[in-house]
Amino acid sequence: MNKRFTLLEQLRKEAQLGGGEKRIEAQHKKGKLTARERIELLVDPNSFEEIDMFVRHRSTNFGLEKQKPLGDGVVTGTGTINGRTVCIFSQDFTVFGGSLSEAHAEKICKIMDLAVKIGAPIIGLNDSGGARIQEGVVSLGGYADIFLRNTLASGVIPQISVILGPCAGGAVYSPAITDFIFMVKNSSYMFVTGPNVVKTVTHEDVTFEELGGAETHAEKSGVSHFTCEDEVECLLQVRHLVSYLPSSNRVKPPTIPTTDSDTRECTMLDSIIPENSNKPYDMKLIIKEIVDEGVFLEVHKDFGTSLLTGFSTLSGKPIGIVANQPNALAGVLDIKSSIKGARFVRFCDAFNIPLVVFEDVPGFLPGTDQEWNGIIRNGAKLLYAFCEATVPKVTIITRKAYGGAYDVMNSKHIRGDFNFAWPTAEIAVMGAKGAVEILHSKELASSEDSATKQIELENEYSEKFCNPYEAALRGYIDDVILPSTTRKRLISTMKILENKVDSNPWKKHGNIPL
Ligand code: HXC
Repeated sequence: MNKRFTLLEQLRKEAQLGGGEKRIEAQHKKGKLTARERIELLVDPNSFEEIDMFVRHRSTNFGLEKQKPLGDGVVTGTGTINGRTVCIFSQDFTVFGGSLSEAHAEKICKIMDLAVKIGAPIIGLNDSGGARIQEGVVSLGGYADIFLRNTLASGVIPQISVILGPCAGGAVYSPAITDFIFMVKNSSYMFVTGPNVVKTVTHEDVTFEELGGAETHAEKSGVSHFTCEDEVECLLQVRHLVSYLPSSNRVKPPTIPTTDSDTRECTMLDSIIPENSNKPYDMKLIIKEIVDEGVFLEVHKDFGTSLLTGFSTLSGKPIGIVANQPNALAGVLDIKSSIKGARFVRFCDAFNIPLVVFEDVPGFLPGTDQEWNGIIRNGAKLLYAFCEATVPKVTIITRKAYGGAYDVMNSKHIRGDFNFAWPTAEIAVMGAKGAVEILHSKELASSEDSATKQIELENEYSEKFCNPYEAALRGYIDDVILPSTTRKRLISTMKILENKVDSNPWKKHGNIPL
């Protein structure tokens, strides 16, 4: 064979080995896959086309000139997921611990630039010891080059970060700017400063997992959106998420074939709302009954749990779902759920994904903790996000729509396109008990049988206000529908809205209350 061909083959083989067999073995022993094995699981079979395999670092510090592995610790290229192109970088921990050098950063920037140019999602598989210590400030500059690209690409192409090892220091800020973060239990962690620094500064004893593990970021900080048991599950989940997303903000989301009937009646829904309006029920059951084949990919499942957010399809068309969850804190809006909802709504709006809102909300959560931590500022984020969104927006009120939360949850007044209520809806300033106690406090205090009087007044208030018809009378509700017809009605409504055009006044950008 031509010598030059042989050299190419040799170099390719060398690149495949990354930091060498021993380090690959060490990676496997930790229960982790290599950079290339991960890519193979992520993309469609044989679809990965690598670029920049022959890049090497240019550093001569600390004897680095004697170790110049091909690829310099990151594998970059394109592949397909369900036939659609995605751009990928996958850090190779077997090469200098996946640390980021000048050349490593240049490779990531190059694939990000390509993703923006061709309009394809960028997926980063992160497994890195951070800045390449031997390269000093050059490495920090490399990070900043990536942060800038993350910011400029925000809202243009979907950006997904998968954390499959360490991600520490300033390095966390690239994933933080991206749209979705995936983490794996017991093997990925993110923190600005590690347990040792924490111990020195705050005298707290904390493990890696407690400080910045997958569960911590899923439940406490809300930094991560998806928690997975292992890497294989994680990469399959990334594929599932990508299946709902358009490749860029220039195109519509893809259609996912379904065998579910557009006219399927959801009879179970006619009896799902409890007689007693203070009794909880699981909103997830309602969502799963309505959407295609019951498939609902929940986003931020363990954070701000009184609000559900996630993706699904209706007649094969992707939708973003935002729903109050009466099973958690009675479905109240608090700081965490408001932030969670706002970010999700803005993602869907940026990427042309229609929004469907299921509403059963008793209001905002009271208390000093909420007030002092800014429920006003944070609740306003969700309000702002719904007001600003111009994608098709449909609301179904299943039960309570009380107070300010009625306005916030995609009401007609803030450009809800179609707002439907079930006959069980209660659209009012507040619940009957609270209203009667405020309006009739003197009457109740002077009454001989205040308990009976209270029930009488509550019934009177409920009859007048705790129904959908006062709102429907003014056109705030477009129609009152039987729960069992909800799927059918949502599908026909989405078809009506398919070519909706709406816009906001010209501005450099708005000033969402951050
Ligand atoms: C160069 C590094 C490296 C780094 C690891 N290695 N981190 N090389 N720069 N940042 C090398 C190790 O020397 C080792 O090389 C190999 O990678 C594997 O590392 P181990 O320590 O053996 O692995 P492990 O025990 O799994 O520990 C992983 C680790 C640890 C927790 C990530 O390596 C570590 O603490 N590294 C330093 C992390 C750090 O302080 N980074 C800088 C953060 S500041 P050999 O040859 O033995 O295989 C930062 C700023 C970013 O990142 C700012 C952006 C604005």
